[in-house]
Amino acid sequence: MENINWKDLSFGYMKTDYNVRCYYRNGKWGQIEVSSSEYIPIHMAATALHYGQQAFEGLKAFTGKDGKVRLFRWEDNAERLINSANGILMAPPPKELFKKMLKKVIRKNKKYIPPYGTGASLYIRPVLFGTGPQVGVKPAEEYLFVIFVTPVGPYFKEGFKPVSMLITREYDRAAPLGTGKYKVGGNYAASLTSMKKAHDEGYASVLYLDAKEKKYIDECGPANFFGIKNNTYITPKSDSILPSITNKSLLRLAEHLGLKTERRKVELEELETFDEAGACGTAAVITPIGKIVDDTTGKVYEFKNAPGEISTKLYKKLLAIQTGDEEDIFGWTEIIK
Ligand SMILES: Cc1ncc(COP(=O)(O)O)c(C=O)c1O
Repeated sequence: MENINWKDLSFGYMKTDYNVRCYYRNGKWGQIEVSSSEYIPIHMAATALHYGQQAFEGLKAFTGKDGKVRLFRWEDNAERLINSANGILMAPPPKELFKKMLKKVIRKNKKYIPPYGTGASLYIRPVLFGTGPQVGVKPAEEYLFVIFVTPVGPYFKEGFKPVSMLITREYDRAAPLGTGKYKVGGNYAASLTSMKKAHDEGYASVLYLDAKEKKYIDECGPANFFGIKNNTYITPKSDSILPSITNKSLLRLAEHLGLKTERRKVELEELETFDEAGACGTAAVITPIGKIVDDTTGKVYEFKNAPGEISTKLYKKLLAIQTGDEEDIFGWTEIIK
């Protein structure tokens, strides 16, 4: 066991022993390579560097009370990566390759998987990018698919606390028919200025509105948005947001807990009517929202009893399934031997 202070881990990068890699060359995927280097030699004209041919994923593995390591919904991440790759004309890594590399990198870095009860988990980062050179704007002919892992701490060190979000009309994250629905680096580059503005002003994140009309809610930085009212879990339907796997799981759990669920357009004004609001994603599962400030209108939306009862219930239930504390009746976890 490494000398790691599991309880003090942040959500950041820590070097581990190995990563796994696979090249796509001459129209096919090659052998899986295990590397102990953190670096990648890359052609200076690689399309990833010039034209943003890059996509990534983020998923977690957890150690349960039984000592078993559970991987959460990896097939959904594999499918989303295929979708992102197709969206920007990259070679999509087949699901079988994704699975093999995932298992290999987890097994090779066993000593970095945080133990049960620490609140920490193993964050897994698959990344795919164009390594082949092009000078004209064209997709590459060569791609590299890498998976690395890093142990991460709980997102909320002080517990499950409500945060404030900023609505600003100064920046958009994604165009209505653009790449917002893919997990590609360009979307994150496009969000950096607005996220910095939000952080500088004391907000946890930006709550983006739809870029065309500025009328509907899109998503919250690197997380989807949901609201709760009248025993209903409501989440925006939009072609410019990333389909969150956490959100998909919460929708299912909400149904299971007897709530109604709606995935539809959510008008900004509807914020006033929600009893609870939250952001959801792999990093934190749920970030309860206490306050949303619109810096154009000056309007403040407050959720007084945040974190709300239903958000708390959903949060605990999903975490319990991920760690194996509760039976996984949905078949979302896979034990890695
Ligand atoms: C833009 C964006 N939206 C939503 C999410 C949440 O998705 P997931 O629940 O699959 O982590 C993420 C994180 O992956 C993200 O980057």
